[in-house]
Amino acid sequence: MNTDNQPEVILSVNNLVKDFPLGQSLKANLMRAVNDVSFELRKGEALAIVGESGSGKSTGARILTRIYDETAGEITFKGQPVSDFIKQHGSLEYARQVQMIFQDPFGSLNPVHTIYHHIARPLLIHKRAKKDSIHRLVYELLELVGLSPAKETAEKYPHELSGGQRQRVAIARAIAVDPEVILADEPISMLDVSVRLGILNLMTDLKDNYGISFMYITHDIATARYFAEKTAVMYVGHMVEWGDSDNVTQNPQHPYSQLLLSAVPEVGNAGKRELLAKKGEIPLWKPDSVGCPFAPRCLKATQACAQSLPEPTQIGENHYARCHHL
Ligand SMILES: Nc1ncnc2c1ncn2[C@@H]1O[C@H](COP(=O)(O)OP(=O)(O)OP(=O)(O)O)[C@@H](O)[C@H]1O
Ligand SMILES: [Mg+2]
Repeated sequence: MNTDNQPEVILSVNNLVKDFPLGQSLKANLMRAVNDVSFELRKGEALAIVGESGSGKSTGARILTRIYDETAGEITFKGQPVSDFIKQHGSLEYARQVQMIFQDPFGSLNPVHTIYHHIARPLLIHKRAKKDSIHRLVYELLELVGLSPAKETAEKYPHELSGGQRQRVAIARAIAVDPEVILADEPISMLDVSVRLGILNLMTDLKDNYGISFMYITHDIATARYFAEKTAVMYVGHMVEWGDSDNVTQNPQHPYSQLLLSAVPEVGNAGKRELLAKKGEIPLWKPDSVGCPFAPRCLKATQACAQSLPEPTQIGENHYARCHHL
């Protein structure tokens, strides 16, 4: 805890921008996948990043793992610019502390190796265990993620497990190296509905009892509300609304967040979605694009919305949005 009684900030992102070349041309034609995104991730807290396909969620996560460099902006890890942290401690140490889990647990596991191999390997690479204690540690980790009997599970190959069990293996592998942060990119979206809650509850346990911070990427605002203390809604590379999950999901103020929430099945809102937005185009954002990205679909859009990107407006305690009509 720090002086203002909030958990310490582990990762902070300020004014992050990422451009990609469009097609083959390297310089002339760029698209802006992430624009002016800022957030903080605190110890033991989850931040849900919610948005539809192409909104820049995975790009943000890949920048945080340093797979991609940012075009502009600052990333701070444990109070230090991330490049300084890596210079001082090495990229292997950064990779240990910032783990990622993916949508497709099958794709992220090697079919020719046993589960034991998958968990033992990072322990060895990151020198987290001596050779004689590795077996015990692997079994402990498998038990911790709910895969018991651990010894039997360890001897299996990925194809012998269910999707939910494979995702538990991916989580065990991530926590094996005692990370500070897990970037979870749609970790439950490919799983059977019946096992999704179990994975979310496992992640909740890791967050609440082991102090791991999560960035939880999802299309599904209902699970964001269930799992994460904070929620940020993204649209076409922009964070359009963010704050405490309760505020964002119970009192959404941005027309796009309202649209997303209207898609959550609840008695009485059938058909409401059509009333909240036009069928307009989802724009291709470029470095010189102006205005609010949601303007072409927004029922409230006025001239101002086509002319300038709204600055963040504070709506309440821990609740912000970018909209000219707030
Ligand atoms: N390596 C790349 N090169 C060029 N364009 C890219 C690259 N990676 C992502 N993009 C583009 O950036 C935009 C954002 O993509 P991103 O994968 O971050 O979206 P997302 O929110 O994760 O979507 P989804 O929900 O489908 O996973 C998309 O328009 C995508 O085509
Ligand atoms: Mg993605």
